[in-house]
Amino acid sequence: MKNKNKLKTHLMDSMVVTGLGLACFYWVCESFMYFFLEPEANFIQHVLGPDMFQTWTRLLVLCLFLIFGSHVQYTVNKRKAADDALRESEDKYRTILESIEEGCFETDIDGNLTFFSNPILKILGYTRDELLGVNTGKYISPDTASKMSRITERLRETGKPENVTGYDVIRKDGTKVSLEMSVSLLKDQNGLPMGYRGVLRDVSERKQTEDEKNKLETQLQQAQKMESIGTLAGGIAHDFNNILMGIQGNASLMLLKIESDHPNYEKIKNIEKYVQNGTELTKQLLGFARRGKYLIKPTNLNEIIEKSSSLFARTKKEIQVHTDLHENLWTAEVDRGQIGQVLLNLYVNAWQAMFNGGDLYLHTANVILDRSYVQPYKVEPGRYVKISVSDTGVGIDKETQERIFEPFFTTKEMGRGTGLGLASVYGIIKSHGGYINVYSEKERGTVFTIYLPASRKKVPNENKAASAAIIKGKGTILLIDDEKMILDVGIELLEELGYTVQLAMRGQDAIDVFQRDRGKIDLIIMDMIMPGMSGGETFDRLKKIDPDIKVLLSSGYSINSQAAKILQRGCDGFIQKPFNMNQLAEKVQGILAKE
Ligand SMILES: Nc1ncnc2c1ncn2[C@@H]1O[C@H](COP(=O)(O)OP(=O)(O)OP(=O)(O)O)[C@@H](O)[C@H]1O
Ligand SMILES: [Mg+2]
Repeated sequence: MKNKNKLKTHLMDSMVVTGLGLACFYWVCESFMYFFLEPEANFIQHVLGPDMFQTWTRLLVLCLFLIFGSHVQYTVNKRKAADDALRESEDKYRTILESIEEGCFETDIDGNLTFFSNPILKILGYTRDELLGVNTGKYISPDTASKMSRITERLRETGKPENVTGYDVIRKDGTKVSLEMSVSLLKDQNGLPMGYRGVLRDVSERKQTEDEKNKLETQLQQAQKMESIGTLAGGIAHDFNNILMGIQGNASLMLLKIESDHPNYEKIKNIEKYVQNGTELTKQLLGFARRGKYLIKPTNLNEIIEKSSSLFARTKKEIQVHTDLHENLWTAEVDRGQIGQVLLNLYVNAWQAMFNGGDLYLHTANVILDRSYVQPYKVEPGRYVKISVSDTGVGIDKETQERIFEPFFTTKEMGRGTGLGLASVYGIIKSHGGYINVYSEKERGTVFTIYLPASRKKVPNENKAASAAIIKGKGTILLIDDEKMILDVGIELLEELGYTVQLAMRGQDAIDVFQRDRGKIDLIIMDMIMPGMSGGETFDRLKKIDPDIKVLLSSGYSINSQAAKILQRGCDGFIQKPFNMNQLAEKVQGILAKE
């Protein structure tokens, strides 16, 4: 069947067949004509003509018909081939146009659509009938319309194609999409502008990916910035604490020597008060510098929130505190004092943001965070306890939000804020392996959300031991510190408390003294960071000499992982500089009283 059709087309298309067909047709007509003119003539005469002349004439005309027929067929074949090629190329371009994501369109000079490919329908959400002949002004935003009038004007002037970004269209369902477009001018045969041709690209997905990438980069940069400011702040706080220790120690000693009616008594008391203020400041700084996290205990965070918030609610009557705490909240291993400080900083900020009163919402929940979610915060994926603190205050604008965790950043007037609250919150949460973020809308309120890693440990039952308040004691204490100022006040303070004191400025000196006076020394008070042999190494070597020796660690940092490790290895306690006489007496007594 197929072959038969093929043969048929072949015969129809053949020039020889057409020529022969026409020639034969002529011959038959000529023969019939002669038959009607001369019916008496015989068959041969009918077919070939009455004489030789007629026969040759017929043959000549037949040849002419043969040539004419072949030529006609040749022209027809050529036209058909051209039509086929055109159809094929049209099909090819139509397929390309429909298969690419970009939408192509043409308009007349007034912007009425004269042609568009199917992707345009998908991009704009209209049907073909709804769009045909419609003016582009129907679906572009007013901003884009004014932008386009400038661009088309330029196009007509220069004739050069233009690339348009931010070609915002409003889809049929009312949603707005931002597109990119290349547009060129269409000219008629006389070179006069007759319309426009454009290619539209939907870049919203690419834009979203780019926005997300930018956001991640900003978060990462922010984290790195905080990291380096933290190192700086920590260093300053440490040195500052040593200086405060010197001042505090001297003030304590002076107070011991004078009566309360002495004219300088109040002044020295004031010095102590200012040292306290300084200590508060360095405490916040150290929190930010992540030198915190001292007493880690498995904790039910709900309990800390309940305690701290009820205390806060009692003192700030103008604020309504609402709690929504998850009943079976996972445990978190935290320093309770520090988390209390975090919450208090957040409450105070919220209160300050609600001048005329308002609502404070506290909410806790268990959450599981996956890798993609926690990646920018540089923490591990897994189980977290989430705490959110929301207020209905003035809110924070986007620009300010980027800076609120920086130390000393404040929008409050002089004397009202130091700008260390959120910095220490940030540092403390980071040092607990968690992270904090903020969401805020101007004039509507702010939500701070904290994520702390959950633990599988049980919250221990605790009975608080009553603290002994013994001031004086006796025994021999070896004091190790590389700062002469600390040794100077330390020896005096301890002697005032009734102890005999030996001094060492380096780890190696301390070991020599300890070996020499072995058995006589009851307690060692040791600085954490010393040049040469570190606090950790000194501790290990002292313990090797006498495993029962009692050691009190002291540092200008509240504590870091190094100190925590020493404590885990059996160190008996930690005291943070600057300390006053009573604090020192209490610590020393507490350790010496231990069996
Ligand atoms: N809940 C909040 N609502 C509105 N703004 C806030 C809120 N919390 C913090 N801020 C803004 O962040 C800034 C920094 O807060 P941060 O607690 O670090 O410092 P501060 O409160 O100004 O001073 P400090 O806490 O040291 O007394 C504030 O000055 C304030 O502009
Ligand atoms: Mg604050």
